[in-house]
Amino acid sequence: MLKNRNILLAISGGIAAYKCAELTRRLKDSGADVRVVMTNAAKAFITPLTMQAVSANPVADDLLDPAFEAAMGHIELAKWADLIVVAPATADIIARINAGMANDLVTTLILASSAPLAIAPAMNQQMYRAAATQENLANLTRRGVKIWGPAQGEQACGDVGPGRMLEPMALVGLVEQQFAAKTLTGLTVTITAGPTREAIDPVRFISNHSSGKMGYAIAEAAMALGAKVNLISGKVSLKASNGIDVSAVDSALQMHKAALALAPASDIFIACAAVADYRPADISEQKIKKSADSMTVSMIKNPDIVADVAALTDNRPFTVGFAAETENVEEHAKGKMQRKKLDMICANDVAASGQGFNADDNALTVFWQDQGDISSQALGLSNKSVLAHSLLELVVNHYHTQKTIK
Ligand code: PMT
Repeated sequence: MLKNRNILLAISGGIAAYKCAELTRRLKDSGADVRVVMTNAAKAFITPLTMQAVSANPVADDLLDPAFEAAMGHIELAKWADLIVVAPATADIIARINAGMANDLVTTLILASSAPLAIAPAMNQQMYRAAATQENLANLTRRGVKIWGPAQGEQACGDVGPGRMLEPMALVGLVEQQFAAKTLTGLTVTITAGPTREAIDPVRFISNHSSGKMGYAIAEAAMALGAKVNLISGKVSLKASNGIDVSAVDSALQMHKAALALAPASDIFIACAAVADYRPADISEQKIKKSADSMTVSMIKNPDIVADVAALTDNRPFTVGFAAETENVEEHAKGKMQRKKLDMICANDVAASGQGFNADDNALTVFWQDQGDISSQALGLSNKSVLAHSLLELVVNHYHTQKTIK
């Protein structure tokens, strides 16, 4: 997929730098020509000689190196790149890129290049959460820089939280996405994501563990494939890239209204949100006071958003649902596809560890209607961004097949 693509890999000084040898090999396996530049600190974690051996290209680490400037100078290298990937990207290099500094080879190259820039943050979880880092990342996102990761989990320092660099194969998948054919150009894709919140009183609500990661990953992948993207999102802590049209909602009723307004003008509708099936029958106007030893909240059914979209008679989009299940996953998913009259459904085993709600990775079995039969394809465990891309490949193929049959 990366044949004839020039990838400039910029390594900064974090422990995850050791994974860059593997990352370079996998990028080359995919056909890319990889050139590596390193900060001074990066050399404490992996040697230029290692990176030269795996990339099969000279490695540069000094802006003022006469030998490097005499061969392929930094301006030439900046022009050579089709994509610059900073991995791992430490808090320090993120701050320096955001500030527009050019005080070493890596930051100078970034400033001197018009190539798209992607960064894969990797640092201690508290450094990642720090307001300064978050503001730097938000600024870079606004400028169109792609932020890949970080993943959650145990860190080299012993802390647990967000800050692990994405695994090399996930990064390769994201690089491949940048160069994928724009198969969704001219199409509008509407996606629901995140949880709904069903109010009990002014301060309490019923909700679920959806983080929005899966739905946002689908939205990002759809935009990368050229679609116009509407994202109807429940309350999450994620920020969609510029160019994605976000409708922020709280409750299932609000999500229903937004979805039915956008669906008729959409070619594809993907319901990834974890929508509450029921809501409290009455919302107390005042905070409910503690008095009795128990209380009962009477619930009524919410409208089924994806089923109502699939039931549209005019301008019905190709409709894809998800099924979050903890048992008999495939049977329940197929049943939901048929009852809700969907074109496709993604069975999501949310009882398996390391996937589903609020995880960075996921695995799906996708079922679709196939001229009276049901066909399926398994999409194995991978980072949600990579998985989103594989899912959209399937969706776009079946969208076109259905159009042809009609
Ligand atoms: O957000 P993350 O943390 O990344 O987690 C991702 C996820 C686990 C939420 C996602 O992958 C997923 O499985 N989403 C579907 C969650 C769900 O509510 O499934 P369900 O089986 O209850 O619903 C079936 C389908 O009907 C879904 O497409 C759902 O969006 C839709 N639905 C459900 C109820 C309702 N009132 N309206 C709906 O549209």
